[in-house]
Amino acid sequence: MNTFQAPRGTYDLIPPRSAVFLAVREAISAPLKNSGYGYVETPGFENVELFARGVGESTDIVSKEMYAFETKGGDQLALRPEGTASVLRAALEANLHKAGNLPVKLWYSGSYYRYEKPQAGRYRHFSQVGAEAIGAEDPALDAELIILADQAYRSLGLRDFRILLNSLGDKECRPVYREALQAFLRDLDLDEDTRRRVEINPLRVLDDKRSEVQKQLTGAPMLRDYLCDACKAYHEEVRALITAAGVAFEDDEKLVRGLDYYTRTTFEFVHGGLGSQSAVGGGGRYDGLSEMIGGPALPSVGWALGVDRTVLALEAEGVVLDIPAATSVYAVPLGEEARRVLFGVVTELRRAGVAADFSYGGKGLKGAMKNANRSGAPYALVAGERDLAEGVVQLKDMESGEQRSVPLETVVSELRAKLA
Ligand code: HAM
Repeated sequence: MNTFQAPRGTYDLIPPRSAVFLAVREAISAPLKNSGYGYVETPGFENVELFARGVGESTDIVSKEMYAFETKGGDQLALRPEGTASVLRAALEANLHKAGNLPVKLWYSGSYYRYEKPQAGRYRHFSQVGAEAIGAEDPALDAELIILADQAYRSLGLRDFRILLNSLGDKECRPVYREALQAFLRDLDLDEDTRRRVEINPLRVLDDKRSEVQKQLTGAPMLRDYLCDACKAYHEEVRALITAAGVAFEDDEKLVRGLDYYTRTTFEFVHGGLGSQSAVGGGGRYDGLSEMIGGPALPSVGWALGVDRTVLALEAEGVVLDIPAATSVYAVPLGEEARRVLFGVVTELRRAGVAADFSYGGKGLKGAMKNANRSGAPYALVAGERDLAEGVVQLKDMESGEQRSVPLETVVSELRAKLA
């Protein structure tokens, strides 16, 4: 029988690279935990209607990329392509918005699924850490999220990233702009697909990467010139707060995101070392989403950072994270009696909070020491019949190679002290 392989567009996280993913998730979530965001976890699948209404029927994410299916019981479900709609659904369902302290600030970490054409940095199963601040319209909240993402990337040692910022207007000014843009686009020489997009989602046409389209867009009406006074003032305040925090950003009036729920502030984090899949993260304000999925008016803002692409960005910059060896002490027994005694010592070490591992499988000294080396542990414990007869074990400093006898009764406390 052939062996199985991971499905197309997916890959397995295995040591040692998997440790980098854990460290990246930790680094992204640390500033959120430190800023009042509580952890939320939602199911990997939802009612398909949630995404159709929330993310938008006309988006590629919903119309082309969603893993939608019918269950044996006849439910129409979809693997989640993104987290925002689910998190808002969960907050509404639990009535978090009624508890009296808005905004509700939540962070999450998980797997997302999009049936995209796989390429470097673009997968069908990928991982995000995200944050949503639900139920407040306050430019400081938009600024907070952008500043925290910047802090997360910097704490990892990333440097070659840029923050692109735009405002998409609100339900007052955007429809006026949309019409003006449509009128402009209808006069252009476009293929049928793009013509359809002009009618359904004209802002996305601005994002078209093809030069024959870009060439024709010179002179297109820009949203900036249509923003209402309230949106303009809001955006200026967001910009001022980010600037005051010393976070560099670029105004990008062509920035349009691939999800329909955005209003006002939108932003993307792009990295210079990733080729065409350059967005390492993105987000923005979604003041209308709650109502779109049947909730009350709850202006909100959030982002999601792609863990896979953040890891690729670290690799592109040659940043090696300082990940401490998982094991501090590696025990090597020589003989049956030593196996029993050292296994007991390892158990005691673990209970005392010292990361310890053991040479299993009855290996000889040479093979066992090779494993001890590979584990990265700074100390090895070796014991044979003669040591036990004397009531000692050999404690080896793996870096200096120095080895000495330590009484069995004190070895745990000595190692604890050394590793503290
Ligand atoms: P998004 O821009 O679709 O936004 O995804 C955010 C990030 O997830 C991207 O910048 C990218 O790093 C990563 N990503 C997306 N698709 C893939 C893929 N196929 N393979 C690898 N990485 C991928 C959202 O998902 C919104 N929910 C963000 C948000 C939160 N807006 C407001 N709150």
